[in-house]
Amino acid sequence: MNINVSSLLYPEKPVDAFIIPLPENPLPLSGFAKLFDNATSNSISNFLELGDFQGKFLETAVIYLPDSHFSKRIILVGLGKQSEIDLEKIRGVFAKGVNLARDLKARNVGTEIDEELCKLSRAEALVALVEGVCLGFYSFNRFKTTDKDKTHEIEELTVYSGTKSFLDELRALVRKTEIVCEATNFARDLVSMPANFMKPRDLADVAIDLAKSRKEVEVEILEKDEIEKLGMNAFLGVAKGSHEPPKLIVVKYRGVGEDKDPIVLIGKGLTFDSGGLSLKSAEKMEEMKSDMAGAAAVLGTIRALSDLSFPVNVVGLIAATENLPGGGALKPGDILKSLSGKTIEVINTDAEGRLTLADAIAFAHRFKPQAIIDIATLTGACVVALGEDLTGMFGNDERLKSRIKMAGEKTGEFVWELPLWNAYEELIKSEVADVKNTGGRQAGAITAALFLKHFVGDVPWVHLDIAGTAWRSKGKSYISKGASGVGVRLLVELITEWQRKAADGT
Ligand code: BES
Ligand code: MN
Ligand code: ZN
Repeated sequence: MNINVSSLLYPEKPVDAFIIPLPENPLPLSGFAKLFDNATSNSISNFLELGDFQGKFLETAVIYLPDSHFSKRIILVGLGKQSEIDLEKIRGVFAKGVNLARDLKARNVGTEIDEELCKLSRAEALVALVEGVCLGFYSFNRFKTTDKDKTHEIEELTVYSGTKSFLDELRALVRKTEIVCEATNFARDLVSMPANFMKPRDLADVAIDLAKSRKEVEVEILEKDEIEKLGMNAFLGVAKGSHEPPKLIVVKYRGVGEDKDPIVLIGKGLTFDSGGLSLKSAEKMEEMKSDMAGAAAVLGTIRALSDLSFPVNVVGLIAATENLPGGGALKPGDILKSLSGKTIEVINTDAEGRLTLADAIAFAHRFKPQAIIDIATLTGACVVALGEDLTGMFGNDERLKSRIKMAGEKTGEFVWELPLWNAYEELIKSEVADVKNTGGRQAGAITAALFLKHFVGDVPWVHLDIAGTAWRSKGKSYISKGASGVGVRLLVELITEWQRKAADGT
């Protein structure tokens, strides 16, 4: 689908459908809806008089206009209470509108953005519109052999802006948003892939492909023997129970000169997490194919930054492995000497993510990072605490945390800070090693973060626990159930805003 911004106010020849968002109690009409109503012999107000449409959030109605020069149909979508309209609502409304247009087999679709209505700037509303459309269309049907060609595609979506001013800027914004959403959907595809198609080697191949098609992206895959030589025994411990060899994936994006220190992004890359010998129960275990959602977010972020040619240096690190209970598997009670030199007592082999991350964080120091951000489906405890809408955030740097929080509000990938509560260090003290990998049932998301902190040193660092947000059991308005692609839009927004401000000296 092609998304256009037009300087016209209305289509020149009739489109198949025109999407008009309306708030609750829309009569008397105002703004764009009023203009459109006047230009179509009161089609909207006459319809609304019937009382069939209240404008409740995501409510829809179709009005047919057999004689109109503008559109064959109007699709009304409810915005809910006018005072509560925000970017999330706009995303949801346009996701709903285009999906209905597609169901109606529309090929050419028009819509508009009404600043007056939503109290958001034209640019903000346009970005949210494009996000709603691009993310709202996503579905994963790679493995469906039937019904494939039944999905009809919209060819063209035109946003009628009614003004020539800022047209180039608005078009550039559409393009930028499309790039970021494509990268998000790319991450969703990786997460949705079943573990028999997405093994550590496959994840490595994805990174290699990224580098092949983009000249500022370089990739290095460290094989098992090299990982052994480095001494990443915590990572290797997790890999021992699987026949699939682990891969340490290093992806470098160079958007500026080498003198600029990189931001290191670390993504948890468990292509499947059975729990190992501390085996998980069967219920929902299939969802553990999504335990590489952090890795997918990192790859998606690098893909977007490179497609935007954004001037920043980023290193992505993924310690990719499966966690299986094979004959060589890690056993509770085992002690591992990590890359940092610290020893770890393994209490529960299902707390494997932090073992792989511990070594990845230690490895990250080689790149002289200006900051380290890890993103991981780390704890069930985080899901219990924050649910599926909020990513848990921990970190040692207030400025970085507040930047991430702002990026969350802007993108709708909300984060909520949890404390690195020092007194709980007690819970992960080991009698036989420097630290143990679990701290019991209490404060599980916090003890996991405290464990990671052992390997961070004094680099600015944030840990994002996406266990709840990466895989949705219920969809939200513009994100269907399943893989959400969380992290890509958040990290791209964070990095682009942060580096832009740094360049401005603000
Ligand atoms: N990958 C899981 C965390 C997870 C749980 C992600 C649910 C998504 C949904 C992680 O490796 C894990 O198993 N964590 C354990 C830690 C425990 C043994 C201390 C958990 O949360 O139960
Ligand atoms: Mn686990
Ligand atoms: Zn896991």
